[in-house]
Amino acid sequence: MTTPRKLHVKTLGCQMNVYDSQRIADVLAHSHGLESTDDPAQADVLLLNTCSIREKAQEKVFSELGAWWHDYKRYRPELVIGVGGCVASQEGDRLRERAPYVDLIFGPQTIHRLPLLLNQAQGRQAAVDVSFPEIEKFDHLPLPRASGPTAFVSAMEGCSKYCSFCVVPYTRGEEFSRPLLDVLTEVAVYAEQGVREVTLLGQNVNAYRGATPRGGVADLAELIRQVAQIDGIARIRFTTSHPVEFTDTLVAAYAEVPKLAAHLHLPVQSGSDRILRAMKRGHTAAEYLAKIDRVRAARPGLSLTTDIIVGFPGETEDDFAATLALVEAAGFDEAYSFIYSARPGTPAAALADDTPLAVKKERLARLQALIERQSQAYVETLVGSVQTVLVEGPAKRGQGRLYGRIGNNRVVNFLASEQLVGQLVDLKITAVSVHTLRGELSSSRHAA
Ligand code: 5AD
Ligand code: SF4
Repeated sequence: MTTPRKLHVKTLGCQMNVYDSQRIADVLAHSHGLESTDDPAQADVLLLNTCSIREKAQEKVFSELGAWWHDYKRYRPELVIGVGGCVASQEGDRLRERAPYVDLIFGPQTIHRLPLLLNQAQGRQAAVDVSFPEIEKFDHLPLPRASGPTAFVSAMEGCSKYCSFCVVPYTRGEEFSRPLLDVLTEVAVYAEQGVREVTLLGQNVNAYRGATPRGGVADLAELIRQVAQIDGIARIRFTTSHPVEFTDTLVAAYAEVPKLAAHLHLPVQSGSDRILRAMKRGHTAAEYLAKIDRVRAARPGLSLTTDIIVGFPGETEDDFAATLALVEAAGFDEAYSFIYSARPGTPAAALADDTPLAVKKERLARLQALIERQSQAYVETLVGSVQTVLVEGPAKRGQGRLYGRIGNNRVVNFLASEQLVGQLVDLKITAVSVHTLRGELSSSRHAA
């Protein structure tokens, strides 16, 4: 048996998975001294962190695994291939039927047991652990290592909302909030390493209820206030939220905590009350709009983004028209829209779904055209303004440019020295292309 030296983790899906992948790398660096590599060809351990939120994400799992087998494992049988995340959680051992060359399978809640699973897998045993020992996970993770000026920090795991279309409560389990001090400690450890911006994560993070040392409970607003007091932290984000849990204490945080970024991602899913009821969302379109009015009053200039599902079972042309009307009324700056896909085990999967796919696709195209117009109009309002960005690193299509993000989460590319990485700088926005802004360093400074 050779000693594995390099690890490649490929992440599919959401930011929770990005967080988990970083923790996977931390755990295996700590236990086995594995060094992370971006190049799968260099790796001795290949892990795929999967997502099952929509059918398309799930389909990717087997094509990725197949490619790993074809390109690497059939030449190097000692290579360890592992599958984690939500598909592993839902499929468990059955995954091995479709991909028998997989050596280890772990769920979102068993990352801390990976060292043991890896030892078993190398001993050629099947190594499977997709249980939900929720409290354990965080108690057994090593201290995180920063990989730049921004970091994700998990505040809570799972979801107990059970929206009728969604697989998350089944794959990640019920809501579990980490104790307040644990989250604050993780943020402080990151801040020590130069992190300036943290994103507090949870599938339903505004339901955060973390135990405090004095036997009380802190909500997300309280967590944000306390994170804002940690030296070095200049900007705080959180994602993702559910409208019902969006309390007045959180609205107040937008008014009172300047470090809280002027952005809110608040999934609405549909603008039709009938469909919202069938989705078990627990609110109407009017209630959603009233809520965002309150946040906007608390933080003028707030950027609002959302998620929308098109073609939920039984969605009529009228229901869809209500969604278009809500998108306009809410004035979203950006929205992520998806065609509904039935997820095994969810209540909506049992509903009759008569709308032809072609109709759903046509609705999606109309919705995306509207969102695109709104998004474009929004970014154009930014041209000529001075915005504070946190400089994150070299821009993707480089040419000496750096990139950073505005509080509203939009990316800006600009020419400057790499010494600015990790700093907040003011940029004058000079131009927009489809999804990226261009800027130049501005002489004036103002607070983030
Ligand atoms: N079909 C389509 N989209 C879905 N989402 C969640 N479940 C489904 C599904 N079954 C979308 C929702 C959610 C986002 C992360 O994914 O819009 O907010
Ligand atoms: Fe899924 Fe979000 Fe609903 Fe939870 S709140 S069930 S994660 S869509």
